[in-house]
Amino acid sequence: MRVLVTGGAGYIGSHTLLELMAQGHEVCVLDNYSNATPEVLNRVRSLSNGTVTDFTGDVRDPAMLDEVMQNFRPDAVIHFAGLKAVGESEEKPLVYYDVNVGGTLALLHAMDRVNCRKIIFSSSATVYGEPVYLPYDEAHPTAPMSVYGQSKLMAENILTNWAKATPDASSVLLRYFNPVGAHHSSRIGEDPKDIPNNLMPFIAQVAVGKRDALTVFGDDYDTPDGTGLRDYIHVVDLARAHVAALNYAENATGARPFNIGTGQSYSVRDMVAAFERACGHTIPTKLAPRRAGDIAAMQADATRASQELGWNAEHGLDDMTASTWAWQSANPNGYDS
Ligand code: WQD
Repeated sequence: MRVLVTGGAGYIGSHTLLELMAQGHEVCVLDNYSNATPEVLNRVRSLSNGTVTDFTGDVRDPAMLDEVMQNFRPDAVIHFAGLKAVGESEEKPLVYYDVNVGGTLALLHAMDRVNCRKIIFSSSATVYGEPVYLPYDEAHPTAPMSVYGQSKLMAENILTNWAKATPDASSVLLRYFNPVGAHHSSRIGEDPKDIPNNLMPFIAQVAVGKRDALTVFGDDYDTPDGTGLRDYIHVVDLARAHVAALNYAENATGARPFNIGTGQSYSVRDMVAAFERACGHTIPTKLAPRRAGDIAAMQADATRASQELGWNAEHGLDDMTASTWAWQSANPNGYDS
């Protein structure tokens, strides 16, 4: 298929490009490089030996979208472009709604203008909010605790209404758990611009000597070692879930959410220990109070994705940490290395 990938130069987008091309899909990227660099696409091209058409622009810009649609004529769109920092979303709610909700609306309008009817959406497990039960299945109530989570849920609702009202349309809503890891080539990976918010890139920067110690946010949760439990998913598995979703969307109509996680959870201390095995030295840590808005535990029930998309996570914890370490140590300054 011809697949337009918005935000294709980002962390998950770039890994997805490689998996799409490996399966014979043709790809085109629209990215405004607000949290990415064009160097990513150079590396994707050299790794794939394939063609990556790219446009620099904003997903909220209708003229830009029309130019992309008319030039590339996509059969389907994978929509990654968006903002993703939970803390920042509380400080800049209008920006988050504008980009994440407004961007999705502008994209659907542009798809309508060229009769493109298939979309895979980058959603988040954060739409569930405080667990009523775990693991979360897709029927779990949605009650996001942040503006970021709200913006993802609003976009999901728009995509659901659109798919219902549009003949032959399919919206596949992929609710990611905690993506980590890097491509086995160590040429692409996660490259946060500022101080990392997320656990794995922070640990990686401590391991490579860029930061002194990991701050563990709370060890008084009701979990086996007191630290937070999360369902970490290897980014290559996550990328493959998009290819599976695309195959599904080809013959589907309507909207459907899918959890994309492994169904296993690990604590902050488990992640540190696994990373120490990967890098061969100790990761210094210091303890701090709980981070505002954090929950004790999150875990996916990914049965639906297995049954309906034929997708299963294949990479375990040691793959996640080893690939992160390989990427970080080969590129200590990310794409500027
Ligand atoms: C994981 C665990 C922290 C950093 C967020 C978003 C979610 C999704 C993924 C999507 C928690 C602990 C972390 C640190 C720590 N984003 N931690 N020290 O909060 O589960 O999810 O990212 O785009 O929507 O909410 O991920 O990696 O920040 O935290 O102790 O320096 O690590 O308290 O238990 P989180 P995370």
